[in-house]
Amino acid sequence: MASLMVMVFVIVSLFIPAVRPSQDLWKLECLPTVGIVSETTVITCSFKGFKKMEIVAVSLTKTTQEKPVFTMDPDSISGDQRISLENSELGPSLKISDTMFSDEGEYLYNVITDRGAKMAQLSISVTAKYKNPITSTWPEAVKGGGHATLYCNATDGYPAGFIHWFDRSGTNWTINSNTTKATKDSNGLKSVALSSRLTFKTIDAGLAPFRCIVLNSRYAQDGESTISITSQSYDDSNKESLASNTTHIVAGVMVIGSLIVGLLFALLIFRKRNGQHGRRPSAHPMLSYESGNSSEDTLETGNYSPKE
Ligand SMILES: *[C@@H]1O[C@H](CO)[C@@H](O)[C@H](O)[C@H]1NC(C)=O
Ligand SMILES: *[C@@H]1O[C@H](CO)[C@@H](O)[C@H](O)[C@H]1NC(C)=O
Ligand SMILES: *[C@@H]1O[C@H](CO)[C@@H](O)[C@H](O)[C@H]1NC(C)=O
Repeated sequence: MASLMVMVFVIVSLFIPAVRPSQDLWKLECLPTVGIVSETTVITCSFKGFKKMEIVAVSLTKTTQEKPVFTMDPDSISGDQRISLENSELGPSLKISDTMFSDEGEYLYNVITDRGAKMAQLSISVTAKYKNPITSTWPEAVKGGGHATLYCNATDGYPAGFIHWFDRSGTNWTINSNTTKATKDSNGLKSVALSSRLTFKTIDAGLAPFRCIVLNSRYAQDGESTISITSQSYDDSNKESLASNTTHIVAGVMVIGSLIVGLLFALLIFRKRNGQHGRRPSAHPMLSYESGNSSEDTLETGNYSPKE
């Protein structure tokens, strides 16, 4: 099929210039293409000069290979089945479904129309989107005023991207951060793991929440995550409750102590009073009896006083 295609191309390109001198009045142009792995990539191509032309045949060949990766002529379509003309009615744009890293490279695109044949060079690069970043901190619970390291990791993107840091007011902290990039290439699946670290000797909790933004190699945002800072760490709240426990214990001891002291005083006074009223030991029981039956007393007093 490929050889037939080449034959058709050769014949048409030899023959058509003689028939149609308008050949040089049009151009085939393709835009550089950036595809996303496992998604559909459109290679935008267009005719410049004539709006209406009928596509007779096309072939797409990688500059590093002899055989076309895709051909289409009036009789057949051959090559990589993921590749097709996006819409031959509208123009020469191509489409690659389920884009792979192996699609990256430079290509020659031949197009034969009812007005002649043209060739254009095009390039395809393939990227992968970073997964949403995973954040962590050291220590796990950051305390305002203490030391802190904030981490933001994004994986499975390609090519190497960037991680930028901002605080709640939008101040850019990126300059204080460090991003490491680890590239992996296994079975044609390329990926980069980004790990960014933002370290504070003393962190101001008022700057939280922090945001880390993951950008792809072309500075387009792929994802973001926020890190909030608990104003107190677990350890410190433990210490604090221990401290407040101690305070409670001290306070308790003081209260009990003063109670004991008070009781001792009361006992002392009671003893003194007992000593003072030593000659009338019955005074106290009488008093308590009187206070317990004060109304009766009054009645009795009322009853008795006239008699006495
Ligand atoms: C992020 O990456 C760093 C360095 O590779 C690692 O020490 C840290 O544990 C990672 N954090 C998370 C949440 O994966
Ligand atoms: C933040 O700072 C980084 C590094 O200095 C810079 O590359 C980036 O453009 C800045 N971003 C914004 C939004 O100012
Ligand atoms: C980034 O890491 C390098 C090497 O580990 C170190 O020399 C540099 O000071 C770090 N920069 C910041 C801003 O932490």
